[in-house]
This record gives sequence, C-alpha cells and structure tokens, in this order.
Amino acid sequence: MIKTPFKLFLTCPRGFETTCSQELKLIGITHRKLEDGGVSFSGDMNDVYKVNYLSRTGMILWLEIDKINVRNENTIYESLKIMKWNELFKPDSTFSFNCIQKGNRFKNTHYISLKGKDAIVDYYKDKNETRPNVEKQNADLNFLILIDNHKGKLLINTSGKPLYKRGYRTIRHDAPINETLAACILKSIDWNIDTPLYDPFCGSGTIPIEAGRIVKNIPSGILRKKWGFQALSEFDKNNWLEIKNNEDSKIINTRSVNIFASDNSNFCIQSSKIHSKHAGVLELIKFRTTEIIDWIPFSENGIIITNPPYGIRLHKIQGINKLYSDFGDILKSKCEGFNAYIICGNRDLIKKIGLKTSMKKPIRIGKLDGRLVGFELYKGSRKNK
Ligand SMILES: C[S@@+](CC[C@H](N)C(=O)[O-])C[C@H]1O[C@@H](n2cnc3c(N)ncnc32)[C@H](O)[C@@H]1O
Repeated sequence: MIKTPFKLFLTCPRGFETTCSQELKLIGITHRKLEDGGVSFSGDMNDVYKVNYLSRTGMILWLEIDKINVRNENTIYESLKIMKWNELFKPDSTFSFNCIQKGNRFKNTHYISLKGKDAIVDYYKDKNETRPNVEKQNADLNFLILIDNHKGKLLINTSGKPLYKRGYRTIRHDAPINETLAACILKSIDWNIDTPLYDPFCGSGTIPIEAGRIVKNIPSGILRKKWGFQALSEFDKNNWLEIKNNEDSKIINTRSVNIFASDNSNFCIQSSKIHSKHAGVLELIKFRTTEIIDWIPFSENGIIITNPPYGIRLHKIQGINKLYSDFGDILKSKCEGFNAYIICGNRDLIKKIGLKTSMKKPIRIGKLDGRLVGFELYKGSRKNK
C-alpha cells in the first residue's frame, strides 16, 4: 500500500511553474507548492489519473514512495529491500530503475540504479515468488532514486512516457517545439480564444494544434494508451475509465475560433494537417503555404505565437539574419495592434527583428538556452537605431 495522501510532484518546463500550478488548480488540486521545475501537491489515485490525463503543462507526474537511507550503497539497498514491493506494483509488470543525484555524494549513479534493481529481485527471491522483469526501454513502471546530498527518496513515474508525447505528431520534423512548452506558452500569455491566433512558421503544427485542443477542451492524453499508473497495485480500471469518460464528455465541438497556420514548406503544411486530424482539431485551423515575406494577417487584431528557424538545428537555412529582419518589417508594417510572441533558440537573432521587446523569458528548447520574447505592436514600437 502507498501511504495516503500521496505525495505528488508534477515536473514542468522551468519558468512555467506558476502556469502549471494554475492548471492544477483548474483540475481540482487544492494545495499546491511551487518548486524548482515543477509543482508538489498531495492527492489520491483519482488525482493521479486526472492530472496525467488532463495536464497540458506538466511533463511527468512523480509519486513519492518513501525516504531512503543514502549513507552508502548498502544502506540504499537495505532501505529498498524492506519495502513491500508486492503491494506496490503488479508482479506481471516490467520495471526499470534510474538514479539522479544533486551534489556528488556518489561516484556512480548507474551502480545505485543496479542496487535498486537487485533489491527488488532479491525481495522476490527471498519470498520464493515470481518476480517482475527488468526492461530498460519501455518498462511498464519506472522507479527513480533521487539523492539530494544526504537525503534520498524513492519515486515512481506514474505517467510512463513524458506527457508531451501526446501521440498526434507522427511525421518527423527537423525542429519541432515540445508540445508541453507550446501549451505552457499559450496558457502563460493568457490567450483569449476570441482573439485570432497566427503561427507563420508552423512546422509540424504544434502551436496551432495545442491552441485548438485548448479551445475544444480535448484531454491532452486522449490518444495515449499506456500509463505508468496502470502497473500500480492500486490501479482500479473502473475508476480510471469513469474519470476518462467523464473528461471526454466535456469536449466542446461547437466553438468557433480563428487559428491560422502557415509555413513556406508544403511538406510542413501537409504534415500539420495530418497531425491536426489526429489531434481532433483539423476543422479549427486554416492552413496555407506562404513565404514569410508574402505573409499577411486576416484580421484587424490578433496574436502571433511562433517559432521561426534559428539556424542551429535547421542548419540548411541560409540568410537567417535577413529572415528575422524581414519578419520584423512585416510585424511593423502589417501587424499594428497585434501582440507577437517569438520562441527562439538563438538569442542574438531576436535583435535582428528590430523591435522593442515588451517581455523576455528564458526557456530551454531541447538543449538550447532560448528565449520567449513578446512585442506589443503599437505605433512607434520600432526600435530607434
Ligand atoms: C523551428 S521550425 C517551427 C517548428 C514548429 N513550431 C513545430 O512545432 O513543428 C521553423 C519553421 O519555419 C519554416 N520556415 C523557414 N523559413 C521560412 C520562410 N522564409 N517563410 C516561412 N516559413 C519558413 C520552416 O519550414 C520550419 O518549419
């Protein structure tokens, strides 16, 4: 049995902890605490189902099982071996073990993970019972030993694959934005669905698709079949299906919205259409293939959220500086009255836009140290050079 109330921790992109906490509040989580890189809260199994199924801004929902004595490798093994593994997860499941440490108490975290695996194997051997199998990739359940200097704890990944793996993006693209990051940006800037939304560098379609799913209230996990929590002994299929069906019944099919997605690559537009169809939002998004220099908005006001190429991962692109200055000219000449948000993995390029920024936020784009920058495009917002 897992001690109740459960101690839960939802990770999210750094800098979006408040956005993630606000989303948890809407999901019904009352007591939340902001942490670095996520939000901690207490809850029960139903909360585990709901948060995993609904959260657009979270990455992995961790469940804390117990403290571990991390004096040395043997105390770690002993604290793990006395846990009641047969009450924790189903013996016909596969499992994997990882270890992360803050500080440098142990030289080899891989060795600690092996100790964790041994503790489970030996636990079942001593009981003379069939043991669950170890599986490095795609295990049903992933355990994490987290060591913070002299403190340690055992966590279970209740999500399985990270929640940004929504399942609608099936065609490979060179530099897609993470689905969770796209949702965090949409939610943090408080996009109002009555405001037309544009993404003129839409690539595989992530930003317009996440926006469409917010409009239709489509659960972020609707296409996922497998979750970590299904391997827990406490998993109750009927409760889970009741919660899932209840959330599915809240999908709104009748809202109208203006979402415009374009890109200069026809391949990207075709794949965005396919992804939008998988995601259930094809009818909400208007697509077209357009070079940025020919791009025009179709409304008096609106919001632009976009992720132009930044010449690092899309290394084929030439004239990247010119692309940013052309885009800046378009914002200035065609988008008066708009707000624009640009996600960029290369901070130097942002200066080429030549407009005063109204906000700047550091963000991680893959391994890159990127920025989310905002521009309010009122008259005279052109930077004086
Ligand atoms: C970083 S990717 C966008 C990724 C997108 N957010 C996603 O999640 O897939 C930049 C996109 O800009 C497009 N692009 C490059 N140059 C362009 C131009 N001159 N006009 C319009 N689109 C362009 C590329 O085809 C690419 O799909």
